[in-house]
Amino acid sequence: MYRNWLRKFPDLPADFSALEKPSDLAAWELSQWLPAHSFTLVKEPDLGDGFRISGSTVTGGETGLLYGVWALLRHMQGGAPLPAESSPRYPLRMINCWDNMDGSVERGYAGRSLFFEGGEFAYDPARIRHLARMMASVGLNVICINNVNVHEPAQGLIAERLPELSALADLFRPFGVRLMVSVDFSMPLREGLPTADPLDPDVQAWWRRTAEKVYDEVPDLAGFLVKADSEGRPGPFTYGRSHADGANLLARALKPFGGTLVWRCFVYNCRQDWRDTATDRGKAAFETYQPLDGLFEDNVILQVKNGPFDFQIREPLSPLLLSMKKTSLALEVQLAQEYTGQQIDLYTMAPLWREIFEDLPQENLSAAAAVSNLGRDENYFGHPLAAANFFGFGLMSWNPDFSPAESVAQWIRLTYDFSAEQADNLKRWMLSSREIYELYAGQLGLCWMITPHTHYGPNPSGYEYDLWGTYHRASRDAVGIDRTEKGTGYISQYPPELADRYRDPETCPDNLLLFFHRLPYSFALKDGCPLIQRLYDDHFEGAELAARMERELTALPFPEPDAGEIARRAAKQRENAQNWRDVINTFFHRLSGVPDARGRKIYD
Ligand code: GCU
Repeated sequence: MYRNWLRKFPDLPADFSALEKPSDLAAWELSQWLPAHSFTLVKEPDLGDGFRISGSTVTGGETGLLYGVWALLRHMQGGAPLPAESSPRYPLRMINCWDNMDGSVERGYAGRSLFFEGGEFAYDPARIRHLARMMASVGLNVICINNVNVHEPAQGLIAERLPELSALADLFRPFGVRLMVSVDFSMPLREGLPTADPLDPDVQAWWRRTAEKVYDEVPDLAGFLVKADSEGRPGPFTYGRSHADGANLLARALKPFGGTLVWRCFVYNCRQDWRDTATDRGKAAFETYQPLDGLFEDNVILQVKNGPFDFQIREPLSPLLLSMKKTSLALEVQLAQEYTGQQIDLYTMAPLWREIFEDLPQENLSAAAAVSNLGRDENYFGHPLAAANFFGFGLMSWNPDFSPAESVAQWIRLTYDFSAEQADNLKRWMLSSREIYELYAGQLGLCWMITPHTHYGPNPSGYEYDLWGTYHRASRDAVGIDRTEKGTGYISQYPPELADRYRDPETCPDNLLLFFHRLPYSFALKDGCPLIQRLYDDHFEGAELAARMERELTALPFPEPDAGEIARRAAKQRENAQNWRDVINTFFHRLSGVPDARGRKIYD
């Protein structure tokens, strides 16, 4: 079996009868690596997920022991610095799978679902255990197994399919990983109630009974995840109720069992008229949730996407994350490379998360969640190097101050037997991959030039006259959206210092310039370069770098099957980058009529 960064570790045993809990597994992992007597494991339940390592003793809570052992193993095998003690910043470190029970994966780029096929549970227990082991090795502790867009038969996960859910939970349990399920807000209707109104006593009683049945079968379920009133999903708005009413309904049902209700804040009008220049989709989440701050039960976590739109290559931090002082929050990022190359183009995310975590107030952040990049492909991730994103997300949701360079270096050392020079070369390309992708697919904060629906490849007008609220409004003279008070007013959702910085094009970082401003093509950027010229230059440079990256990556001695997978993808990325270059440059050249100052080929 393909084992990613655990490839140098021994196979898991086939028989798990003696490995029921994380501390059992901690002892087993250690015994495979070190003579049993050289390290002692001491359980100190109060430490929870945390651990201490001193001399030859690892002290930790039930799960802390396992994380402590993995810290030790990553140190020995991957050269990671060994902490004397450590505990995670966020109690919940979650993977959100968008798997459907028919076996498809929404925005999945690594094959079909690891859990489902043909409307049924269908999985290989050995692969599930290996996935759980990968999660434990980097401190991840919750996996939501089904798509946030819940359709039949997935509603049944908290009804007639509970025994099967329980069997899957048994596989994850020894690894300290708890299951979560996405549920449908209108579920009471399916079960024969006339309404799903959160203030209706029968609906409340129904959710309480349901939670009881769920926890009878899976006593350690982490909780429910909900997408409501978003992109066609049902929600409390149907009954004229607020999202606090909706979230609290479910939270109260889960509370007696210690369950958490994770409520997503991805709510906006997805039927906008492009002619309407006043409505700004970016404002929607703040407008919906900020007034509700303080009204949620204490077991509610609001899960907010990192940016105000939808996982674009670069967005400013969502203002909602900066403004909910009395509510627990989860940061949501996307490992699935929906808009960022679909696990064909190389895109290493740790540098992005560093930026996000740096700007994020930490006080009421209690969880980090990532939309999964997993699938049934042999290597789990499609692109062999995309595994580093899963790995890095684990390390950084444990410790958001963790260095991106160290996370990538550690992953390379665990995964490949490269010389120091080869490893450095790979690390350099991985760490610069985001900027390379950004150069050809969306620089200066310009988003939404991507092909609609598939979200792969360039199509600058694709979303321009559509109903999704995602416009760049490029014209003959100017491009971008004015989001200052003179425009849509989005900027006023930020705390004053940040708003001041973004408001002035002179102080707004160039890489967000066209997100916040509408500017003429002649506008001089910080280095004096006219905006239109930068658009051309970046696309030429991005395509050149993608070609160079292909040459250098394919010269590295990756073992098979990685070598072939990487070479195929790097070649496709080179073609993509050229295509982006030509389509976008031609688009702007036709609109503006401005020639490239360096006379390079732009098609008419
Ligand atoms: C994006 C994505 C959808 C997904 C949605 C979400 O819009 O394209 O596939 O359902 O995000 O986060 O809920």
